[in-house]
Amino acid sequence: MAKAVTVFTCTACGAVHKKWAGQCDACGEWNTIVEEAPLSSGPGKTALGAAKGRGMALSDLASAEPEPPRRSSGLAELDRVLGGGLVPASATLVGGDPGIGKSTLLLQAAASFAAQGAKVVYISGEEATAQVRLRANRLGLGEARVKLAAETGLRDILTTLDAERPDLAIIDSIQTIWLDTIEAAPGSVSQVRGAAQELVTFAKRRGVAVMLVGHVTKEGQIAGPRVVEHMVDTVLYFEGERGHQFRILRSVKNRFGPADEIGVFEMTGAGLAEVPNPSALFLSGRDAPAPGSVVFAGIEGTRPVLVEIQALVAPSSLSQPRRAVVGWDGGRLAMILAVLEARVGITFQGFDVYLNIAGGMRITEPAADLAVAGALLSAREDAALPPHCVLFGELSLSGALRPVTQAENRLKEARKLGFSSAIVAEGCKTGDGAGLDLQEMPDIARFVGEVFGAA
Ligand code: TYD
Ligand code: MG
Repeated sequence: MAKAVTVFTCTACGAVHKKWAGQCDACGEWNTIVEEAPLSSGPGKTALGAAKGRGMALSDLASAEPEPPRRSSGLAELDRVLGGGLVPASATLVGGDPGIGKSTLLLQAAASFAAQGAKVVYISGEEATAQVRLRANRLGLGEARVKLAAETGLRDILTTLDAERPDLAIIDSIQTIWLDTIEAAPGSVSQVRGAAQELVTFAKRRGVAVMLVGHVTKEGQIAGPRVVEHMVDTVLYFEGERGHQFRILRSVKNRFGPADEIGVFEMTGAGLAEVPNPSALFLSGRDAPAPGSVVFAGIEGTRPVLVEIQALVAPSSLSQPRRAVVGWDGGRLAMILAVLEARVGITFQGFDVYLNIAGGMRITEPAADLAVAGALLSAREDAALPPHCVLFGELSLSGALRPVTQAENRLKEARKLGFSSAIVAEGCKTGDGAGLDLQEMPDIARFVGEVFGAA
């Protein structure tokens, strides 16, 4: 047998290093590298595996077998993020910060799947069954036909699931599950990876859909969900600000549907409520047009979403003025500031710049460039943009504005929510522009000239 060598693994991304270091050069995180017992790969070590290789039955790619139907959860927001319902024999990871509401979401999903006739088993490694029951009662799901267990040993869990053969098994959380063949503490990279691998294999072989909860960990000895992302079919992240009631379920990987789809929920006293029209929610409570506030017509997955982008530009006494961003990429902000300075001569030197996406939303689309630039300029010039106006367009380093995808959907959503005009990159107009008063801009200089007067 090969000599076992100790390895050093990053708890954030799972990268393996030969020696310890303060920073992981794979993901850039600090203080996440820990010493790990090597993954045992000896024969007969896994719970399901056989000691010796055996012949496999091969099947044709072309097959007349109909696809097994997806199971609807009864929660439209969850179904959408899953790509149209839960796929049988699939493995799904639901990651998120501790306390964000993962257990609440999955307990509601469990009850909802059960109400649709699915056989559901919920295994909690963190709470006693009495606690889960208490939560279910609080959520008004006390009567749900979900089977519960509080267990952390994977061997017992797999044996039980094998006997029960549910349609869906929920494991909350993967970091509490341990495998007796791995000599490492529960939550360590090898345990999390080993347990996830067994559960994924089980899901495929026995036709059980498995959903795993994974806590995002900032640092320390507990392995984060990224360590198992590559093993599962679908990766969902449950996001939101603690102080906000909005929660966004985002698919970052989906073998059975589109990624980047979002489902929006609201955390209430009685659990999570679905938000079928997120634009209205993100814009609600918006004041009269103010300098620095701009509405961006975005696309999240397959759905248009309007969000408010807020900027504040204030004189700074610091030699290195502040650049603070919430919900948008800091590097992209720096780029937009540089383009504004180089192409239209508006400088932000000597000013602190704060940029915030309202409602705890996070935007990754470059289509928001024009809206971000608009918010920054509006704050800098202390001039509000026209009321009832949405913006979108991608900004290139030359200062040119590029058209973006799904312009018509964006405009339609704006129209639906009572907006009357739009300022967009040239080439975005299709048909009658959804009935909005449309201004197309070829570049940022024209935008500044027409919207803020000659700058
Ligand atoms: P939880 O699902 O336990 O989070 P996680 O499993 O991601 O760690 O959610 C915990 C938070 O949710 C807790 O701070 C209280 C809040 N909450 C509500 O606001 N309403 C509710 O009905 C429930 C059950 C929880
Ligand atoms: Mg929990």
